[in-house]
Amino acid sequence: MKKRLKKTLTEMFSAADAADVYSSFDIIGDIAIIKLPKHSQANAQNVAEAIMHRHKNVKAVFTQTSAVTGAFRLRKLAYVAGENRTSTVHRESSCAFAVDVKSCYFSPRLSHERMRIAHLVQAGEKVVNMFAGAGCFSIVIAKHAQPAKVFSIDVNPTAVEFMKENVRRNRVYGIVIPLLGDAKAVVEARLKYCADRVLMPLPEKAFEYLPCAVSALKTSGGWIHIHAFEHALKTENASEKVRQKIVEALDSLKVSFGVPQVRVVRPTGPNWYQLVADVHVNRRSVSLGYSFL
Ligand SMILES: C[S@@+](CC[C@H](N)C(=O)[O-])C[C@H]1O[C@@H](n2cnc3c(N)ncnc32)[C@H](O)[C@@H]1O
Repeated sequence: MKKRLKKTLTEMFSAADAADVYSSFDIIGDIAIIKLPKHSQANAQNVAEAIMHRHKNVKAVFTQTSAVTGAFRLRKLAYVAGENRTSTVHRESSCAFAVDVKSCYFSPRLSHERMRIAHLVQAGEKVVNMFAGAGCFSIVIAKHAQPAKVFSIDVNPTAVEFMKENVRRNRVYGIVIPLLGDAKAVVEARLKYCADRVLMPLPEKAFEYLPCAVSALKTSGGWIHIHAFEHALKTENASEKVRQKIVEALDSLKVSFGVPQVRVVRPTGPNWYQLVADVHVNRRSVSLGYSFL
């Protein structure tokens, strides 16, 4: 099925453009989002028809007309074919996520990472998800591990409304706790020294919000999963570059820590990668704020 779509695309585009279009389209629920090279926008309708022909579950197709931008991490979409609606329900890892792809962030490409984190969570853990979106990481954790609570913060009111709906839909009420607001403000007001584990799935704010993540951890320490973007040429090691930046940032906070793993989550462009670092902070002092005794 997929191979046939690839072949159809090579009939419309140059080999390089066909490969780009093929590798960049996402299916979220029953909506396909395609990215076309600027000079090939006229092909949108044909690509949409090819996708709907090959993927019978796809009921609507949009092109992405801007990068993911702004505090809410949204992208501009233009309608191409099928039903003209942007809300859908995406199924992943035995969970169902209601999302509006225009007004809250969602990426199906993080599904493996969501399950990876869920498998690390121990029974009874308190987790803080600082950038929770429609609640996908939090709900996968609640369904596949046995956390005590997953406090799930997002600054986008629409994302938090979807998160509440997804909590109901997946029956994780009382475990996943949706919280609207800026992560720093919410942690400062309600979540200091409470967490065994903190998720930071927003690469753009990784280093700015790292002190806040540390402040959410229990004084006995815990894990932080830091997402970051990194540029690396073929001769460079993106994981090592990120590890070095994290070491510098945590050294400046004077905490004792280890970084057992940094892994590539996905490529995001030519020589650009999204990575996640698993960081263990060993112990921290309450009285000295971020410093370690
Ligand atoms: C890349 S998305 C991650 C969404 C989610 N974790 C997922 O897997 O779909 C980042 C989210 O962080 C939210 N955000 C941005 N700045 C924030 C802040 N200062 N405090 C809390 N949430 C923030 C955005 O609204 C967006 O939903």
